[in-house]
Amino acid sequence: MLVFKRVTTEAEAEILRTIRNKCASFMTRSTEEISPEQQKAWFKTAFKKYELYIAYYVEYGAVVVDAGFGVIHLEPEQYLLTGGLVPEYRDKGLGKHLFKFLVDNCNKQLLIRLEVLKSNIRAFKVYESLGFQVDGETDKIYTMEYKYDSGI
Ligand SMILES: CC(C)(COP(=O)(O)OP(=O)(O)OC[C@H]1O[C@@H](n2cnc3c(N)ncnc32)[C@H](O)[C@@H]1OP(=O)(O)O)[C@@H](O)C(=O)NCCC(=O)NCCS
Repeated sequence: MLVFKRVTTEAEAEILRTIRNKCASFMTRSTEEISPEQQKAWFKTAFKKYELYIAYYVEYGAVVVDAGFGVIHLEPEQYLLTGGLVPEYRDKGLGKHLFKFLVDNCNKQLLIRLEVLKSNIRAFKVYESLGFQVDGETDKIYTMEYKYDSGI
């Protein structure tokens, strides 16, 4: 199972950077790797605008490994979610758990949205199963909005 820890220190931000870089090619905005220096500079203000999480995979009550990351970005009048799992923990059904956690941590007065590459079928399926629906697209990306009446 996954257990979530809010990122509050530079050391944790560094763990988040490492996980995020393993997911870089699936990101919709920047697919560049983030350097330790960039992360340090970003984190100085980022922790105020974003809720950042590390997802630890826990077995028999012991932390096994940092398996994923999640970001809740509060934009004007909406949340934008992103996240990902390291390769060894993909394709095991954990993605739904990760993104449900992020949805559950949003204030339900606002829109909850995310972006996904059209080629990222695995992520798209997870989002659909949680109650997100496509509300826009570009040539490479779908934007999706969480439907509050989806019952998830
Ligand atoms: C996206 C991600 C969170 C999904 O989580 P996951 O635990 O690996 O996904 P699952 O194992 O639950 O698979 C999701 C579904 O996609 C299906 N699937 C996987 N690969 C597929 C493919 N190539 N074609 C069709 N369906 C596929 C699975 O069968 C599953 O369907 P089911 O729920 O009906 O059984 C995870 O793979 C990940 O972190 N990927 C890299 C980073 C990333 O893409 N982040 C999202 C950025 S928008």
